[in-house]
Amino acid sequence: MRLFRRKQQGPSSGTAVSRPEKASAQSARPSGRGADRDDHDWRSYDLIAEEYARTQAAAHAAPAKDLVELLQIQRGARVLDVGTGTGVTARATGERAGPEGLVVGIDPSVPMLARAVSAAGGPRYVAAAAIDLPFRDASFDDVTATFVITLFQRYDTALFDIFRVLKPGARMGITTWGANDSRDEFRDTWRSVAEEFAEPSILRDAIARAIPWEERFADHSVLKQTLHDAGLRDIWVETRDYRFEMSREDWLTGRETSALGRFLRQMLGDELWSVFSKRVRDVFAERFPPRINDFREVILAVGHKA
Ligand SMILES: C[S@@+](CC[C@H](N)C(=O)[O-])C[C@H]1O[C@@H](n2cnc3c(N)ncnc32)[C@H](O)[C@@H]1O
Repeated sequence: MRLFRRKQQGPSSGTAVSRPEKASAQSARPSGRGADRDDHDWRSYDLIAEEYARTQAAAHAAPAKDLVELLQIQRGARVLDVGTGTGVTARATGERAGPEGLVVGIDPSVPMLARAVSAAGGPRYVAAAAIDLPFRDASFDDVTATFVITLFQRYDTALFDIFRVLKPGARMGITTWGANDSRDEFRDTWRSVAEEFAEPSILRDAIARAIPWEERFADHSVLKQTLHDAGLRDIWVETRDYRFEMSREDWLTGRETSALGRFLRQMLGDELWSVFSKRVRDVFAERFPPRINDFREVILAVGHKA
């Protein structure tokens, strides 16, 4: 999918790029990019699965564990994990459901699922999106969906289908990033370097395309009302703070797996991407220590199907 027209004459490979040219809707991408990446939908997680597994998955393990505890998953339960990614939540769920349980993780990204499969731990995995789930009605006792509901283009249709495969009384647990999460000194710094390379309006548009409901589900009460409208009852919503300590390099690699990172990488092409990559590393090295303490706000919501 092409978002920008190609430049008539981009810098040929080997040409030194001294100053980044800011991309705008009128500007275009230079040549010298991999055909695979060029043709790929940057919104997909396919091309960053390895980096995601290395830098993000570990950070998601703590909220996943808390969600599974709030859900009080029983031994022997049949649990669906929607948008399982590298299987962090599915594995946490599997520990509670035990060998007599059945945990199934679904995700449209096969490379993400490949990481989940190689981490083993008991869950089964199916390549599928949250709409038209390949399961019979009333198949599951519980469903988890961590950091995925904001990505659904039609969250109401997805929730409808998720409810279809739940047994009456089944429990649902969801996590989203909180409202104060998207802006902090690290993200602001990364974003300001990104804005040296692309117009802010283009970056905003990319986020809206990749994570259409980021703001909506960062709001406690809107999340609760949406889940209620979908048929969830006795809903408990709370916000928890998590501290993730990691190397500066892992933080930056993790940021490159975010929607903005994936977008920028595809939009800039290989040459400008390496310029960006170096620039953002230089700026971070000037401002931040080699190890970073990242504080993040997570909303956890649980309830049961009426
Ligand atoms: C931010 S990751 C979260 C992965 C995992 N739940 C975790 O907590 O680490 C979002 C995942 O949702 C998947 N995804 C995106 N759109 C989806 C959809 N419509 N249905 C199911 N999964 C989807 C992506 O492929 C990606 O693996």
